[in-house]
Amino acid sequence: MIMIFEKCRLKGRVLKNRIVFPPVVCFGWSKDGVMSQRHLEHYRNVAKGGAGLVIAEASCINPAARLTESQLGIWSDDFIPGYEKLAGVCHAEGAAVTVQIHHGGIKAVTGEPLVPSLAAGEQAPAKRGALKAKELDAAGIREIEDQFTAAAVRLKKAGVDGVELHGAHGYFLSYFISSSANKRVDEYGGSTENRARIVSNIMKKIRSECGGGFIIGIRYGGASPGLDDGIALAKIFEEAGCDILNISTGAFGETIPVPGKYVEFNSAVYTAIEIKKHVSIPVIASNSVGTIEKGKILVNGGLADFAAYARNILADYDWVKKTEQGKEPVRCFKCRTCRWFKRAFDDCPAQKIAAQKHAARKRAGY
Ligand SMILES: Cc1cc2nc3c(=O)[nH]c(=O)nc-3n(C[C@H](O)[C@H](O)[C@H](O)COP(=O)(O)O)c2cc1C
Repeated sequence: MIMIFEKCRLKGRVLKNRIVFPPVVCFGWSKDGVMSQRHLEHYRNVAKGGAGLVIAEASCINPAARLTESQLGIWSDDFIPGYEKLAGVCHAEGAAVTVQIHHGGIKAVTGEPLVPSLAAGEQAPAKRGALKAKELDAAGIREIEDQFTAAAVRLKKAGVDGVELHGAHGYFLSYFISSSANKRVDEYGGSTENRARIVSNIMKKIRSECGGGFIIGIRYGGASPGLDDGIALAKIFEEAGCDILNISTGAFGETIPVPGKYVEFNSAVYTAIEIKKHVSIPVIASNSVGTIEKGKILVNGGLADFAAYARNILADYDWVKKTEQGKEPVRCFKCRTCRWFKRAFDDCPAQKIAAQKHAARKRAGY
């Protein structure tokens, strides 16, 4: 039986357990997209806290595609030293590390908002504020494929273990793969294969440039717009050389009803469970997994290969170690400070409590 705290292998690497820290942008921590000392301390703490796989935050492949001026960048070789240090701190603490690579699409604020098609479905915004989005031609799409590939090549040079394509949450790639947002009539639209083509092309290009040992993953919506789409896409991604799927929500945060049998989980986790049945590559269940008991149901029960915990680990860096040792971690209050105030977890009340408890323990000498 597979156990959540047991070692496992991923693309020839040994991971110390099946717990993943999923991508979490640290808003405001970077100047001009460069990895800061604060980032490095943060990721050192996350890795030290015990997650087997750390997926570092959404890092932009193009300066015009960012969510904020302070989002991390990977659009030029100048960024490589920062990611070398990131690989160094995570590996020193015994964690594997991949980096999420990202294009903001319609949500980008540092350049033109881009969409696959202006003739979008009703759900799909074709404007960002007053700015009308721009539809790319096939040559423009291939340019973006090359930018994703170049970002991956830089990260390989930096010594990280792989990349995760950000194909979720309403960003560029999620619009392409969703039939609700992509109404193109060329080779990048229409059938599921065509809508997935941009992703498949990026995966194939990365594999050819970065070699067999480099981890290629994707985060995407398991029900975007329906579970059938999530399953069909998974098969296409596996065929294109993808090594690991991280299931979340898609272009419009779609959810589907969760059957009673899985009532303790939300729609994103449920779709991960269903998708796993159709592929042989590992699947990460993420979004409000929230407790180690639920993680065990998922992983020890064979429903998913990995369980991801974002806010639990933000609230207490030592969450993984503590839960493994049966100790009580500091609990995330789900106050949404980290999410809605866009300051990452700077103001996280649970982290402040964790720091106070740590100081008290040090004073008491244990
Ligand atoms: C502050 C913050 C930043 C986030 N940044 C990213 C990101 O860069 N990429 C991504 O795919 N998801 C991002 N997410 C979503 C998380 O990876 C995760 O899916 C979400 O917090 C739900 O999981 P949880 O219940 O374990 O916290 C972010 C979440 C938060 C709270």
